[in-house]
Amino acid sequence: MKAKVPFFDLTHQFLFLKEEIQSALDEVYKTQQFILGPPVQALEQAIAPYCQTRYAVGVASGSDALLLSLMAIGIGPGDEVILPPFTFFATAGSVSRLGAIPVFADIDPETYNIDPAGIEERITSKTKTILPVHLFGQCAEMDPILQISKKRGIHVIEDAAQALGAEYKPRSHSDSRRAGGMGDLGCLSFYPTKNLGAFGDAGMVVTNDPDLSEKVRLLRAHGSQPKYYHKWIGINSRLDTLQAAILLVKFKYLEKWTEARQKRATRYQELLQELIRSGVGLRLPGIQYKNRHIFNQYVIRAPKRDRLRKFLTEEGIGTDIYYPLPLHLQECYSSLKYRLGDFPVSEQVAREALALPIYPELTEEQQDRVVDRISAFYRKK
Ligand SMILES: Cc1ncc(COP(=O)(O)O)c(C=O)c1O
Repeated sequence: MKAKVPFFDLTHQFLFLKEEIQSALDEVYKTQQFILGPPVQALEQAIAPYCQTRYAVGVASGSDALLLSLMAIGIGPGDEVILPPFTFFATAGSVSRLGAIPVFADIDPETYNIDPAGIEERITSKTKTILPVHLFGQCAEMDPILQISKKRGIHVIEDAAQALGAEYKPRSHSDSRRAGGMGDLGCLSFYPTKNLGAFGDAGMVVTNDPDLSEKVRLLRAHGSQPKYYHKWIGINSRLDTLQAAILLVKFKYLEKWTEARQKRATRYQELLQELIRSGVGLRLPGIQYKNRHIFNQYVIRAPKRDRLRKFLTEEGIGTDIYYPLPLHLQECYSSLKYRLGDFPVSEQVAREALALPIYPELTEEQQDRVVDRISAFYRKK
């Protein structure tokens, strides 16, 4: 029988943490403080320093973290926000929910992150924010983005949903910069597949700005201060206390898990070298400036991607495609009048991207099998 390699598998992690999580949940049950109970604040106090920020505000999801961050800086109808078209939908959807316009700029073919070279030419008098995404766990090229923001007086919101703990250009421990802590606001997701995943939806906004932090804090609870007196029109988007209790337990293991992912990524890079040298056209994820990539996903670029994926599925190996259709070509954005060919790098990467299994519990044998089967596919062609 062929050994199966699931794309993702949380069952081992759950069995390992079951008792610890059960007792954390029991504590919440005892207090019956389900809304903004003590674990929410405790998690905020743990995540803020981890992201090198002064403040953190727990919210209901990464999508809401984006929405609330945009609301906090006052984004509204007609405003323009520059972001990459190769990302999860929420990055652009949050902008559109506020009546603002997503303006896309193409990505770098190695890192899959927004290419700063295309940002400045898209700035108009309506541009209010640049929204880079730290895709798959590696920081976008932030120095030029922050320079443009400073020069033009435009905010930067980081979509760090996939990048908790990632570092940009870490030269030394003291001046390394963490995902979420470089722009005006950073948005985190604790969706179950993230390096730090809840048992459902959860998210957080991090920032160094006391006013923005306070505004997000109010906006997540209908903008009320004091209770039943509404300073702003907010939404109901609080981080659930039970999720916060679970995340606090898991947070203790985050570094170890991330290191385990990094080790597996390095091993993929080594194991796939032979195939790269054979000239089949496979490309590995590029890591710039020795960035601290936290490998929420390990995404290769594979020629004949769909046939390779089908072959791997038949061999019992799980993979996924992040993302098959760039956002400028989505049906819901047809009114923006983008066309095929507008963002060639995003379009090409969307045709070739294939995410391989990467999680702390993935064994060397499983990884060897993934690489062996990819090689077998290209050998038989
Ligand atoms: C890049 C990116 N942005 C935003 C989100 C939204 O986060 P959530 O699923 O927690 O709403 C995700 C989630 O997968 C994401 O990957």
